[in-house]
Amino acid sequence: MSTQHWPYPRIVAHRGGGKLAPENTLAAIDTGAKYGHQMIEFDAKLSADAQIFLLHDDTLDRTSNGWGVAGQLPWEKLSQLDAGSWFGNAFTGEKLARLDQVAARCRQHQMMANIEIKPTIGSDAETGRAVAQAAAILWQDQVAPLLSSFSFEALEAAMKAEPQLPRGLLSHSWDPQWQEKTAALACVSIHLNHKVLTAERVAELKAAGLKILVYTVNSPDRARELLKWGVDAICTDAIDIIGPDFH
Ligand code: G3P
Ligand code: MG
Repeated sequence: MSTQHWPYPRIVAHRGGGKLAPENTLAAIDTGAKYGHQMIEFDAKLSADAQIFLLHDDTLDRTSNGWGVAGQLPWEKLSQLDAGSWFGNAFTGEKLARLDQVAARCRQHQMMANIEIKPTIGSDAETGRAVAQAAAILWQDQVAPLLSSFSFEALEAAMKAEPQLPRGLLSHSWDPQWQEKTAALACVSIHLNHKVLTAERVAELKAAGLKILVYTVNSPDRARELLKWGVDAICTDAIDIIGPDFH
């Protein structure tokens, strides 16, 4: 059972600005802040030269004007790409965001962070370690960022590098081994696809001392139901409908 402090709000803006801005960019963070959000989630991975930057997919194709595996390019090349125009003309010229820029923007907006460690295939431990080490420095006088990952190996490396940073294990389906895994990683939380949850499962997870974050909840009725069951945080794309004061 974890006894770690949980300072985080009930609503978390997914990928910074949900569906209202190009995901995982500084513009997305500004959009989350514009709607009053106190916490954002974003996806972090490594460039070929070990710079940490934000991108959801393994490849650049969907959310930038680049192509191919992002982790195979150095930051110098990645930093030249346009990560905004795929979303809309208003965001043309928006760049990929590096983790230090993101930390500075979060500080400016006084927003907390859930850093999802999203390693390029084969770089799980390296990414987990690098993200944890950087996060410990970049957020040192702020509320600690909540580190999460679908990758056990990445979270294990994060734990070894910076054990004091809170960790949450992500799972898209109901994992019968959730208790062993979250215990081995000394997780403060479990982050689940809301579709796999029932009131009984929420009770089971809570009884084990875990905080529960659910994604991606865009229906206010479903968000209310999950909160009633005892879920601690809702990660949403509907940042304008499920706002920071949602109840
Ligand atoms: O961290 C919650 C959520 O972001 C996990 O799924 O694919 O949107 O990164 P995904
Ligand atoms: Mg994510």
